[in-house]
Order: sequence, then structure tokens, then C-alpha cells
Amino acid sequence: HTYVVIMAGGVGTRFWPFSRTNNPKQFHDVLGTGRTLLQQTADRFTGVCPPENIYIVTSAEYRDLVQEQLPYLSDEQILCEPVRRNTAPCIAYACYKISVRDPEANLVVAPADHIILKEEEFRKTIQTALAATQNQDILVTLGIQPSRPDTGYGYIQYIPESGETVKKVKTFTEKPHLQLAKQFLETGEFLWNAGIFVWNVRAILNAFARYMPEMAEVFEEGNPCFYNEQETAFISRAYSLCKSMSIDNGVMERADNVYVVLSDFGWSDLGTWKSLYEVSEKDASQNAVDGRVMLYDTRNCIIKAPKDRLVVINGLDGYIVAEYDNVLLICRKDEEQRVKEFVADAKEKG
Ligand code: GDD
Ligand code: MG
Repeated sequence: HTYVVIMAGGVGTRFWPFSRTNNPKQFHDVLGTGRTLLQQTADRFTGVCPPENIYIVTSAEYRDLVQEQLPYLSDEQILCEPVRRNTAPCIAYACYKISVRDPEANLVVAPADHIILKEEEFRKTIQTALAATQNQDILVTLGIQPSRPDTGYGYIQYIPESGETVKKVKTFTEKPHLQLAKQFLETGEFLWNAGIFVWNVRAILNAFARYMPEMAEVFEEGNPCFYNEQETAFISRAYSLCKSMSIDNGVMERADNVYVVLSDFGWSDLGTWKSLYEVSEKDASQNAVDGRVMLYDTRNCIIKAPKDRLVVINGLDGYIVAEYDNVLLICRKDEEQRVKEFVADAKEKG
């Protein structure tokens, strides 16, 4: 009864220009391993469930990319969204559909764009979480020991004395502002939300009905349409009725049956340039370089350029230099959260 849902419909704005709307980061071989982030994510779950139980939820425009990269999946396993509505509708679509196939389904929901260095540890953690949700209607998330007051993550406060490996969650705060993130870190009681969730379909459908009733109502009507020719029309109607909402804001912050498994499997969310910098190999001057580059008096930079480009840099410290397609970005590493803003401006200017 184990299933895996991979969310692969985001656009990875903060990783611009490497991540572009027409080809977001999950479809790139970001780490130079020969496998894209999506492929690595799917590979990671072989052994957790049979390949026919893996579902990918993505935008209709990426269907071909997914099919190309994961040729062993059938059409039925690639769920296409007509518009982007963030992760709550994405998860609802997959969970309602899977519940029709298997009302006893127990499932893992994972983002397509993370790296995990200790695969064996990861699988063990997933097994622990799956064992906990098999007979209990609880919402389990994986928690990572935080190392800095990053405002790009959800923060989980747990009750230390509750349970051995699966701890009861007291509060869940999605993307706090910096002041709050700093306070959270100081208490030592908080973990980062890894964004990987485990639950059985009953538990998540109940949570949707309770905390996002409007959306739940829309999808509940879909039962007779899943797995037949009416599905596309139903989904297109359903998405036009759904508000954009993340699962974190829509369910995890509100629910009172959330649990966390303390996890340590070399996790990194490749959300921004700095996070890629952190996991990349560096030269003696702490530069992470991908491309043909000549550096003079340059330190602490992350540089990524196409192979047919020679990049010559003199006197830079702590910068992102990234060229992709028709865009060149040069941005201070400590101001990388502004990339989102640059993308919006660039779109406006065409
Ligand atoms: N299908 C689909 N549709 N997928 C989506 C959509 C959508 O509309 N929006 C986002 N995704 C996918 C992204 O591709 C990514 O794999 C995953 O869902 C999570 O979305 P992000 O947009 O990357 O979320 P985030 O990084 O800002 O925040 C989440 O992850 C953090 C850890 O990486 C939250 O869960 C945070 O609490 C968490 O700390
Ligand atoms: Mg993310």
C-alpha cells in the first residue's frame, strides 16, 4: 500500500537564471552527476515502493520533460496541472486520485528538487515515518537540525519528551520573518521542515476537509472522474475553482495531529544559489566553479557558465556569477533573496 508523490511543478524562481519557467531546476543536472534532480528523486524511492506506485504532479507544459526523464512511468502516473496553484492543490489532486485506486494507501510526498547525501539514512527515516502512519491518522513531516535563521523554510517546534523517534509537533510556522527565525533558533526547540511529508490518504483527506473545506469539496466531486477520459476536464474545472495555497500554510500550520521525525540524511534544499554553493566543491579561494573560468584575486564566489564561454574575473568577493541561456546574473551572495524581485522586474521589462 505504499505510494510516492513527487511534486515537480514549481519554477524555482530564486535559482534564476539557471531555473527558468520553461525549464525549471528540477529538470536540470544541477550537480553534474549525469542525473537531473527529478531523476535523482525518483531513483531514491526505488525500493520504497514499486515503480508503478510513483506519481509525478507537474504543470501540463512539463509533461514531455517528465516523460523523457522518467520513461518507465506510464501516462497515468504523470498528473498534469492546467495552472499553478502551489502545493496544496497539487497534493490534493494526487491524494484524491490515489485514494480511489487504494483507500488504504500510505504515502510519501516529496519535492523534486532536493539533494540527499546519505541515501541509506534517508530510506530508514522514510520507513520509520511510513510505519508510524500505517495505523495512525497523523501527518508526519521530516525535520532537519537548523544551522542558520533562514527565512526560506518552515519551522517546527516539537515536544522533546513525546515519543522516541516520532515526536509530537507543538507549532509549525511557515517562512517566518528574520527576527522570529532568530528567536526560534535561540530556543533550540525548532527544526526546519524538510518539505517531505508522510501520511495515509485517510489522514490527509480528513485534514483537507477540515482545514481547506472549499478545496476538499471541489476534489471530492472528482471521484468518478479519476482514471478515465473525464479526468482532464474535471481537473481543469477544479483548478479554476482552487485558490493558490501551500500545504504548509493550508494544512501543516493549522493541524493538531502533526508529528515530526528528527532527520539527518545530508539534506539540502537547492532553493538558492547559496545552497548550491554550500554543497559544491570549492577551490583554495573558496570559489565554487562550473565552467571555463580564469580567476584573479577572486574569493567566495559561485560561478556557473555555459561550457562554450570563457569567464575571466578579477577582484570579486562573495558574488554569484551565473549565465544561462540569454541571461547573465551578477549578484552579491548575501542578497540572493532579491533574485525573486529581479525575475519579476525582468518579466515586466520583457
Ligand atoms: N505540481 C506542483 N504544482 N508542484 C509545485 C507547485 C505547484 O503549483 N509549486 C511548487 N511545487 C513543487 C516545487 O517544484 C518543489 O518541488 C516543491 O513543490 C516545494 O515547493 P517550493 O516552492 O520549493 O517550496 P519552498 O521551498 O518555498 O518551501 C517548502 O519547502 C521547504 C524545504 O525545502 C515548504 O514546505 C517549507 O516549509 C520547507 O521548509
Ligand atoms: Mg523549495
